[in-house]
Formats: sequence, C-alpha cells, structure tokens
Amino acid sequence: MNNFQYYAPTQVVFGKDTENEVGALTASFGCKKALVHYGGKSAVESGLLDRVYRSLDENGVPYVSLGGVMPNPRLSKIHEGIALCKREGIDFILAVGGGSVIDSAKAIGYGVVNDGEVWDFYEQKRIPSACLPIGCVLTIAAAGSEMSDSSVITNDEGIKRGYVNKVCRLKFAVMNPELTFTLPVYQVACGCVDIIMHTLERWLDPKRVDSELTDSIAVVLMKTVMRNALILKDIPHDYNAAAEIMWAGSLSHNGLTGCGGSGGDWSTHQIEHELSGMFDVAHGAGLSAVWAVWARYVYKSLPSRFAKLGAEVFGVSSNNEEKTALFAIDSMEAFFRSINMPTSIHELGVDLTEEQIKELAFRCSFSGKRKLGSFHPLDIPDLEAIYRKAK
Ligand code: NZQ
Ligand code: ZN
Repeated sequence: MNNFQYYAPTQVVFGKDTENEVGALTASFGCKKALVHYGGKSAVESGLLDRVYRSLDENGVPYVSLGGVMPNPRLSKIHEGIALCKREGIDFILAVGGGSVIDSAKAIGYGVVNDGEVWDFYEQKRIPSACLPIGCVLTIAAAGSEMSDSSVITNDEGIKRGYVNKVCRLKFAVMNPELTFTLPVYQVACGCVDIIMHTLERWLDPKRVDSELTDSIAVVLMKTVMRNALILKDIPHDYNAAAEIMWAGSLSHNGLTGCGGSGGDWSTHQIEHELSGMFDVAHGAGLSAVWAVWARYVYKSLPSRFAKLGAEVFGVSSNNEEKTALFAIDSMEAFFRSINMPTSIHELGVDLTEEQIKELAFRCSFSGKRKLGSFHPLDIPDLEAIYRKAK
C-alpha cells in the first residue's frame, strides 16, 4: 500500500430531526453571528429554513440570511456574500442546501478572511491562508462537499473551476435523509451518479496496488449506491435507501475510498465541469453523459482496473481482461440508463456544434496548458474526440 494522509475533521450528525440540533451545534463552535446561506426555493418551501431559524433563535445565535444560490454556483453571488459577511461581522457560515450552497459558502469563507479577488484561488494564482468556519444542513446526497476539501464555482463568463484546500473542510454536517424526500427523482439520480463517480475516479488509479481494504470499501460503496438508487426510483420515500445513499455520498468524497492510491484520474469530472459551466446542466447528469465514452477511449491504458471493476462490482468471472474491462463499462452505462440518466450530451438537451466542441476542449485543457488524466493523458485533439463521440 502507498503512503497516504487521511483528514476528515467534520462532525457528522446523522438521522431524523437532526436539523433541530443546528443551533446548539453552531453555538458550540463559538459563533457570534452566522450567515445562513441557502439556494433557490426548496429549503423555504419545505419549512426547513424556518426550523433552522428557530433552532438558532433558541440557542441565542444571531444571524443574517443570503439565499438565491443557483446550481453551479455563481461568483457574483459569492461576491455579494463576502460583502455582506464583512458588513455584518459574520464569523460562521451555515449552509442549508446541497453542493452548490456549500461550495458557495466555502468560496465566501475564503473571500472574507483573505484579501483580494476570491476567483484567484480558483485560477490557482494564490493560496488562501484560512477560511471562515462552516457548518451545513445537507438537503441532497450528491457532491459530497459536506466532507470534502473541494469547492467548485462558476464565473459570469461560464468558466467553472474547482479549488482544493483542507482549510475549507466543514466543522459539522447535519444529515437528515428525510430532507431529501422533496427532491425530484431526476435530481436523486444525478446525485447517485456523482457519488459513484467520486469513488470510481479514485478507483481508476494506475498506482493503486495492494489496497485490499480500500478497494473493498470502494466496491461495497458503489454496489450500495446502485442497489439503493434502484429502490429510490420505485419508492422515493424509502428512509433506509435514502440514508444509505446520503452516508455513501459523504464517504465517497471525504478521501476514504482513495486511501493508499495516488489520487485517481479525474478526467470525467474535468470534462463535465466544462459542460455544466457552459450549458448549466446538472453535474451528475453531465458525468453520466460522458463517462462511458471517456472510458472506452482510455481503458486500454489501464485494463486491469477496469477489469477489476467488472469482476468485483459486476460479478464477471472471466480470464479475458479486455472483455471484462469492456463488460464493466457497458454495465456501468446500463446502470446509468436504468435510473434514467443520460448517456449522451444530446440527452442533456444540448446539441453541440463543432465550434462548441473546440471551445469545450480548449477550456478543459486550460487553453492548451495542461493534459488531463493520470494514466492516459488527454490533449486538445483527444478532448475534442471525446466530446464529439459523446455528442
Ligand atoms: O436551490 P434549491 O431550490 O434548493 O434547488 C436545488 C437545486 O435546484 C435542488 N434541491 C436541493 N435539495 C433539495 C432540492 N430540491 C428539493 N428538495 C431538496 N431537499 O437540487 C438542485 C441541485 O442542487 P445542488 O446543490 O446544485 O446539487 P449538488 O449537491 O449535486 O451540487 C452540485 C454542485 O456541486 C459541485 C458540482 O460541480 C455542482 O456545481 N461539486 C462539488 C464538489 C465538492 N465541493 O466537493 C464535488 C463534486 O464533484 C461536484 O463537482
Ligand atoms: Zn462530482
């Protein structure tokens, strides 16, 4: 097993009615005045926001609110949040929502305690020294931002960029699976794809050898999400299925399923981020639309890991490595279809022009400055070919 570091400092408070503990939790981290940050309308309409406010009031935590975070969160809202926090003397951010709200909170947290333009961090121009403390009430199992060290934001030109730094890891995450019952089925399925992908991108790692425990955790996690995604498709309010998926979402992206590896290969995420930046599609659906095309393009450079996926997740018993690898790709694609996720960009409602394909590839390569991937490096012509095949 390779050397590794594992750092997952977030206090998880999991289960029914746990949102009522949010005031006491926020107070316990010494908060003097909080920003309650939320999205479009779901947390208002479900009554969740009122319960959060009540809990803060009961625990004597003063707060101001900033809603309106859009999926694929925007830099303009982050600037608004930074200004509000500075004006109000905010020392803690409480994010009520999913990955977009939490990521917006992380970016605001960087912007409040570091001078200058916050987008610089996402362009890798500077490194923030700290981040405001953040807690969350999670309303969707998907991005894993509640335990991850990453945040992904989009500027007003539609450029989407991620930034990784352990200082943004949340102080606490309140996770009540019942809060996800108001989600549209499409959004639940998007979340399931994203959760699988966070473990799968770590799994496809050229240097990951002799990681029996990590591989076993990864296999169980992917199988658990697949089984329970199908349950939720038929019985959307099945508490145990929602709970399994919510917990898997956090464990899939807090580093656990990559311990002993060298980081994996995040090409599919990078290819997707350009799509959701340019066309505002849901992240999980974008991943589903491109993954199999990418996988068929690169699998020959790492057949053993694709074949191990076929053997351990999809139960193939064959000595033919190539056939098993291809079977794994076909099976994952079939699973995506079984939960009504797209397997082409056209199904996202986007009909790419040749000009857009070139622009996506150019942006994804950071204007030709980088190649993507750890085992099959992708340059601009490769990326164009993948967008074209996934079209
Ligand atoms: O804004 P509201 O009205 O709340 O609606 C949201 C939004 O439209 C809705 N929703 C959330 N909880 C709901 C609900 N609707 C009804 N009932 C509920 N309980 O769902 C929609 C999607 O929400 P969003 O927060 O965007 O979803 P998700 O958690 O999938 O986050 C996606 C974002 O996270 C980024 C993605 O790129 C994307 O920008 N990611 C962040 C990562 C990280 N920070 O570690 C890693 C991921 O790979 C990902 O890139
Ligand atoms: Zn993701």
